[in-house]
Amino acid sequence: MKSMNTNVFGAVHLGYVVIESRRFADWRRFGTDAVGMHHDDISPDVMRFRLDDQECRFLIRRGPAEDVTALGWHIDDHASFERIEARTRAHGVPVVRGSDEEAALRGVERLLRFPGPKGIAQEIYTTPLTSAEPLKMLSSGWVTGDSGMGHVAITSARPALTRGYFTTVFDARLTDYIDETISGVKLRIRFLRVNERHHSIAVAAVRGLPIDPVRTRVQHLNIQAAGLDDLARSYDRVHELGFDMALSVGQHTNDKELSYYARTPSGFEWEVGWNPVVVDESTWEPTTHQGISVWGHKPVGRTIVDLLDQFRLGARSLARPEITVPALSGGGIPDD
Ligand SMILES: [Fe+2]
Repeated sequence: MKSMNTNVFGAVHLGYVVIESRRFADWRRFGTDAVGMHHDDISPDVMRFRLDDQECRFLIRRGPAEDVTALGWHIDDHASFERIEARTRAHGVPVVRGSDEEAALRGVERLLRFPGPKGIAQEIYTTPLTSAEPLKMLSSGWVTGDSGMGHVAITSARPALTRGYFTTVFDARLTDYIDETISGVKLRIRFLRVNERHHSIAVAAVRGLPIDPVRTRVQHLNIQAAGLDDLARSYDRVHELGFDMALSVGQHTNDKELSYYARTPSGFEWEVGWNPVVVDESTWEPTTHQGISVWGHKPVGRTIVDLLDQFRLGARSLARPEITVPALSGGGIPDD
């Protein structure tokens, strides 16, 4: 008898990101004039950025969080969509249907929402709405499609649970690890993929210490420029417009992506990358890389005050337990 394929790996793609901020003028300049995306004003309290023909890739809503509040995942087919919904419900985790207004703001036909690690809501949809309005943006284009729109990196004091969550919900696979020491702090980063993109989620943890040195729920977001020119020109614009650069241009050890990291008006970082490797499932083997970069990615303008701040936040995180979703975390997946 033919068994039903119940694995949703490959049918899941990062589709949109919801951000809450009060800094609308800065976000508009950052997204449009520096990074080079298409901008749409929806109302005084809502704006969006497009990367391609999808109506919405970034939804920015006015509010105090200065953080990412939700991730939207494009699911290829209804069977996979229902499989994810059924799994979530079977573990006793509430799934709610987004309102028609919420769906319209995100540029999707309908969506379901359930809780995610670090309090980042996870949303799934099958049908994005596309815009007939031509893109007006400084970039020549962005790589989306089968790879999804980029990736999200989070810090976690409970990395086994965070990895377990994405494995339980989306059948995520471990791509590789990076071990890195930054300012004397040993980090281990787990890279998880849900499709051909090397990683859609990266989870960074301080080794042997349950602390989280980052204030925001996400450490950085990544989008992939179509061309090397786009990367270089946006890097110049970030500088010229006076936005903070976090890391200069460099190349990652694991996915070989060329990239830089700017600081967003909300404080978390924004990586613009180019040309990462695509995973071939028939040959890929997870490995551990030493250090995040082959070259470059030098901290720009980081002061001793920033470092002290990070340790203060880390110490505070000891007293403030991280939000996890134990029911969907499969008991936590330890390192391979
Ligand atoms: Fe990244």
